[in-house]
Amino acid sequence: MALVTVTIDGLTVQVPEGTSVLDAARSIGINIPALCHDPDLIPVGACRLCVVEVENMRNLPASCVTICTEGMVIRTNTPQIKEARKTILELLVANHPLDCLTCEKSGDCLLQEYCYEYGVKSDIFKGEQHDYPLEDDNPFYIRDMNKCIVCGRCIRTCEEVVGRNILDFSYRGFKTKPGPFMDTTMSASDCVYCGSCVTVCPVGALVEKERIGKGRHWEIEKVKTVCPYCGTGCTIDLNVKDGKVIGVTGNPDGDVNGRFLCVKGRFGYEFIDSDQRLKKPLIKKDGEFVEASWDEATSLVASKLQENKEKNGPDSTAVLSSARCTNEENYLLSKFTRAVIGTNNIDHCARL
Ligand code: FES
Repeated sequence: MALVTVTIDGLTVQVPEGTSVLDAARSIGINIPALCHDPDLIPVGACRLCVVEVENMRNLPASCVTICTEGMVIRTNTPQIKEARKTILELLVANHPLDCLTCEKSGDCLLQEYCYEYGVKSDIFKGEQHDYPLEDDNPFYIRDMNKCIVCGRCIRTCEEVVGRNILDFSYRGFKTKPGPFMDTTMSASDCVYCGSCVTVCPVGALVEKERIGKGRHWEIEKVKTVCPYCGTGCTIDLNVKDGKVIGVTGNPDGDVNGRFLCVKGRFGYEFIDSDQRLKKPLIKKDGEFVEASWDEATSLVASKLQENKEKNGPDSTAVLSSARCTNEENYLLSKFTRAVIGTNNIDHCARL
């Protein structure tokens, strides 16, 4: 791929043609603040927080939608740029509920982080406040549109990543907010609750219900593993606090899925600590299930399989395997069915 050479804050860097100024800067460790930009989405240049100076270019272009061209000279941190970013942040907090003490996203909120970095005061602009009710009509997440900064990440994720197109902006001007068609409720929409919108929200407008009050961002240890739900094999991060799983997020480096998951992988982790979870085999005795040892259970299954094979022949047995098992487990089951039981009657729930 052809390369272009640009100079950013005095450092010369070569980047592939088509690279944005924002990505070029980040590739050499220069951090430019960005609210509406998300690496998994097509840039739109909406929030203007990522503005930079480019020699021979008028005004301050948004770096996320400005493409590097040969010889470009860029500055990312001049007093003029800092002032512009600070003003944008002051305008955003003018109608933002400043409840960072109790906000679930505190410590993981880009608006909070940038306001701190740019020394933003909350009372520069006295703005009208929104007073939307909390949208709590679905089982998985809460929408607090009072905290929405209208970056559009949720809308673009639903369209570009998930392909559902459930969300779009409703209304205009100060009343603009993302939501389902005709500003109805999420439960009345065709949302499948994959939670991808929650994943990309940079502030506390979208938060997962089950996590509320369970742990701050900085208290959570992320443990990489594979989703147990199907054979797709998404890489997930168990969000663990004090030895307990309090959430699941997609692993950004996961080859299959990146940061995005389906509803089961994202929200279906409560079974881990469920008191209804089977932890020991059960054998029916006198019409009642009773706990048994693994030796007892496997011996019983083996004797029943043997008995059936002798009485009715190997083809009287059929085996169903599961996408929840690993490839290795499914291979073993196939071997066991064909070589030990002696039948080809084996099938898999995800075969089609
Ligand atoms: Fe570039 Fe929002 S991050 S305009």
